[in-house]
Amino acid sequence: MPPVSRTRAQGRFPRSLSFSEMEYADSKPKSHHVLSKIFMAALLTAVCIFILKHPSSYHSMSPFSRHEPGVTHVLVTGGAGYIGSHATLRLLKDSYRVTIVDNLSRGNIGAIKVLQEQFPEPGRLQFILADLGDARAVNRIFAENAFDAVMHFAAVAYVGESTLEPLRYYHNITANTLTVLEAMAANNVKTLIYSSTCATYGEPEKMPITEDTPQFPINPYGRAKKMAEDIILDFSKHSNMAVVILRYFNVIGSDTEGALGESPRPELREHGRISGACFDAALGVSPGLKVRGTDYETADGTCVRDYIDVNDLVDAHVKALNKAEPTKVGIYNVGTGKGRSVKEFVEACKEATGVNITVEYLSRRPGDYAEVYSDPSKINRELNWTAQHTDLLESLRVAWRWQRSHREGYSAPLAMAF
Ligand SMILES: NC(=O)c1ccc[n+]([C@@H]2O[C@H](COP(=O)([O-])OP(=O)(O)OC[C@H]3O[C@@H](n4cnc5c(N)ncnc54)[C@H](O)[C@@H]3O)[C@@H](O)[C@H]2O)c1
Repeated sequence: MPPVSRTRAQGRFPRSLSFSEMEYADSKPKSHHVLSKIFMAALLTAVCIFILKHPSSYHSMSPFSRHEPGVTHVLVTGGAGYIGSHATLRLLKDSYRVTIVDNLSRGNIGAIKVLQEQFPEPGRLQFILADLGDARAVNRIFAENAFDAVMHFAAVAYVGESTLEPLRYYHNITANTLTVLEAMAANNVKTLIYSSTCATYGEPEKMPITEDTPQFPINPYGRAKKMAEDIILDFSKHSNMAVVILRYFNVIGSDTEGALGESPRPELREHGRISGACFDAALGVSPGLKVRGTDYETADGTCVRDYIDVNDLVDAHVKALNKAEPTKVGIYNVGTGKGRSVKEFVEACKEATGVNITVEYLSRRPGDYAEVYSDPSKINRELNWTAQHTDLLESLRVAWRWQRSHREGYSAPLAMAF
């Protein structure tokens, strides 16, 4: 039976926009008698009324609402976003069952559509439109679905923006993580993989950064993530939940097969990350590239970062999920171990795009740190993970292919078709 994409109201929020179809036994009478048609219509109406009045009964029929031996059901929060959508793709390819919860404040319905088209089979992927700031909605989602694990990606995630709107960051990152954790505990969900960041380290004196490097974040984004980590760590002391905290360095690249890419909202461009800014300049969407800060204490005066390819990053998540152990907390840096300057990045971007991007050098951006790169030896050793996509130029070429063929990002018509 072909997959069906339907919309069904479940109160106001959460709203499951698409779910696997139910199977109906073929019990149609052979006769086309008018009375039997009327009877069937009445029966169907009664069934519809029953479903609307008893949504939980309906839910219990959904494969997402029951644990199934041999199937791991992962809740991916923020799955419409850049990293969450790539993680979902990898999980689905690896035969996991996935529920995405996203409020679409920053993600793209087009990314969900791509994932649904690749995995239309019942019981593979469902999308629930909900805001993690709405604790009632979150509790309901956990009560109605049988999750085995959570990958908590959903967050606002721009350093510059966090300095301008700190309360938004503490609410969205710290408070929402508490809500998710409470719902997990109440519903006995056994595994959490948490998206943290190297911004929790601030600007350490010693490079490279290990997991033991003291955390002194210097902006609200980093502090909000550090507080969320602290909540998780305190909770873990008396819980048998399996927890892995992954501290990502700077994420770049996109799906090597070209299904997904990075497509932030146009209004976020001013806060945007360097790869997006380079591609915008190469596409002519922006007049050029602004490099903020040329007087840092680095080899060429521009900031140094550790760029990790998104394909490697999602691989680290899958390895973390497989190796997570009850009662234990694993904390890992996810980076290449190699720092690259912004100037180097810009040169690679010019080569990948073939465009001689105009570069304007400006003063420093508040909240930025000079040099950040990881020591990934702990994750290499304990999770048997090593970055494979370490050729910066190649990662940018892959990302550029998607950008060039998706000039409008995940375009509006896709969203309308939903
Ligand atoms: N991109 C990076 O370089 C980077 C580096 C370190 C850590 N991280 C972390 O990785 C995670 C994912 O980042 P990303 O780059 O994919 O960001 P993104 O903005 O592309 O995706 C975040 C997603 O979360 C959703 N979201 C935000 N608030 C929500 C809420 N209250 N309820 C439901 N959904 C909500 C957004 O709609 C979006 O789809 C974040 O936690 C971020 O802090 C990212």
